[in-house]
Amino acid sequence: MKVYKTVLGLSNALEKYRKEGKKIGFVPTMGALHNGHLSLVKKCVAENDVCVVSIFVNPTQFNNKTDLEKYPRTVDADVKLLQSVNCTIAFVPSVKQVYPKPDKRQFNFAPLDQVMEGPSRPGHFNGVAQVVSRFFDIVKPQKAYFGEKDFQQLAIIREMVKQLKLPIEIVGCPIVREESGLALSSRNARLSAAEKKTAVKISKALFESVDMIQTKSVEEVKNWVINKINEDPILNVEYYEIVDSLTLQNVKKWSDSKYITGCITVYCGEVRLIDNIQYKK
Ligand code: PAJ
Repeated sequence: MKVYKTVLGLSNALEKYRKEGKKIGFVPTMGALHNGHLSLVKKCVAENDVCVVSIFVNPTQFNNKTDLEKYPRTVDADVKLLQSVNCTIAFVPSVKQVYPKPDKRQFNFAPLDQVMEGPSRPGHFNGVAQVVSRFFDIVKPQKAYFGEKDFQQLAIIREMVKQLKLPIEIVGCPIVREESGLALSSRNARLSAAEKKTAVKISKALFESVDMIQTKSVEEVKNWVINKINEDPILNVEYYEIVDSLTLQNVKKWSDSKYITGCITVYCGEVRLIDNIQYKK
């Protein structure tokens, strides 16, 4: 595996592959890699001739300076993990390489970015779109891989690709969970042992609620999930929205849409965790 730190170095290497007619796949990450990330990388390796993984903690998507500073950085371990799954290229650029000058672009993803994570993290999805479009421009992949864990992000990336008319196939990959059901996340490392045990109640409530759609209304299922999780004093639901999987707008009845997903954000102590469940897929 090769590690590149500059856009020029990466571009030259990729140009060679492109001339040979090789298929290029891409997985953007912020590092602190775990098996969730690696599931995307493995799929990318399996489906392409060349797999490029970026490790870059993107400042423009953080609206909170301490959150950016506190974000875990484990590049050496990440590179080893990528090597172990036969990744071809790790791209580990500096902020100056990614943003030679400040990115002033303002995207409009309304109404996709006006719900759920949107209002609580102003500018977040704009920053994600800035960095991902910049990487797409550098890597020019045929396929790019994103986790369903960040369900709203995936919908927004699909919309961005449509708006920019990019010839890139976006591949959504299922959530990887611990055996307990807890969705893997870099933030789980910040949970104490007791909090981690408690956090399992989030996915447990989501799983339990799936069968309820036969007998309960959308409103009832929504309230049941929120109340069940909030029963635990350590857990505090920020939102639970049951939405059309494509438009991300609330559904009122189970018959309102063919594809329905429940998206949740919960504070477990100080740590903000997100998860989702598909009711109709
Ligand atoms: P990051 O949080 O590092 O996630 C990188 C990719 O891994 C995302 O597509 C995310 O959805 C996926 N992922 C994380 N945990 C997962 C899990 N448990 N199961 C499956 N996939 C999982 O998301 C970002 O970085 C950034 O916003 C980025 C797209 C890189 C732009 O900076």
